[in-house]
Amino acid sequence: MKKNICLLAASCLALTFASSAGANEPIGWGIDYMALVNKVNPLPDNWEDNLHTVHVTNSLGDDVEVEVKAYDAYTKLREDLLVNDGIEIELDSARRSIAEQQEIMDSFTEKYGADYARKTVATPGYSEHHTGLALDLYFRLDGEDIYYNEDMVQYPEIWEKIHEKLADYGFILRYLEGKEHITGYGYEPWHIRYIDDVEAAREIMGQSGLTLEVYLGAVSDPELVVDYGTSSLYTEEELKEAAVQVKCQFAAFAGCELHSLRYAGDECSTEDNIRWMNQLEEGADFTQVAEFLSDFHSPMEASGAWDPDKEYEDWQWWLARSEDGGWQLLTWGY
Ligand code: DAL
Ligand code: ZN
Repeated sequence: MKKNICLLAASCLALTFASSAGANEPIGWGIDYMALVNKVNPLPDNWEDNLHTVHVTNSLGDDVEVEVKAYDAYTKLREDLLVNDGIEIELDSARRSIAEQQEIMDSFTEKYGADYARKTVATPGYSEHHTGLALDLYFRLDGEDIYYNEDMVQYPEIWEKIHEKLADYGFILRYLEGKEHITGYGYEPWHIRYIDDVEAAREIMGQSGLTLEVYLGAVSDPELVVDYGTSSLYTEEELKEAAVQVKCQFAAFAGCELHSLRYAGDECSTEDNIRWMNQLEEGADFTQVAEFLSDFHSPMEASGAWDPDKEYEDWQWWLARSEDGGWQLLTWGY
């Protein structure tokens, strides 16, 4: 059911209110604003039964659907940034259906490859965007819309000012640099999450490196030692990119704790290994290979593939790339 009731202040061209609730029911009740949706926790069942959203049109003319309270908080954040910092934020994407998430996954996989997609786009059913509480921002600068990921990351000073204000409006930053093994995704300065609790948001945003996963006690975050060693083949930056791929995959190892991740050294780069990588991916033209080793601890309780409460040492991760492509994670294990 859709009603054309403008309940919230909006800077947008169009705003419609979508609700499954009766006319007198309080808005925004019924969903768990702290719900954890990530690589191992899908959207809770029947989420949409109690979800109330608004539709807004952004500066690009796109329709964006947002949960009502999250949208109200967003408009206040937007006003604060505009008036006090001269920063004009816009909404790129908020709530997505499973089908919309699949479309994004398909287009990213086609454009950038499966591995870039894996660290950037959630599997349909496992995206925080399904909740309506996750908002992807972009901004306007000198009358121009800055919305491509690769352009947006060129403005860390703008993101810093935006991030400073998130908690005051009940938002947190979700995908932190260095915490990819917990969140499952690469750093996304634009992806914010409404949690409807300013105090909790201040606690999370006030502690460097604190993720929602750890705040909620879903996982622990022991110290992780990452060692890129020395390489005459790759720069540390290139090895960091490879390590992010590994960490994003590790986040799908439910309940496992990563302690150590290290580059195995240039001796992994042999003709045999490059041939092996090419055998693993049909039609690939890999010319370079990198191996990482890791130590991690399995969950206390027996689950799936893991022996319970066990330290897995020297677990291998193999990546390869072609002349003009990014790292692809091909295989892992013993
Ligand atoms: N970009 C985030 C991870 C998503 O697709 O849900
Ligand atoms: Zn997002």
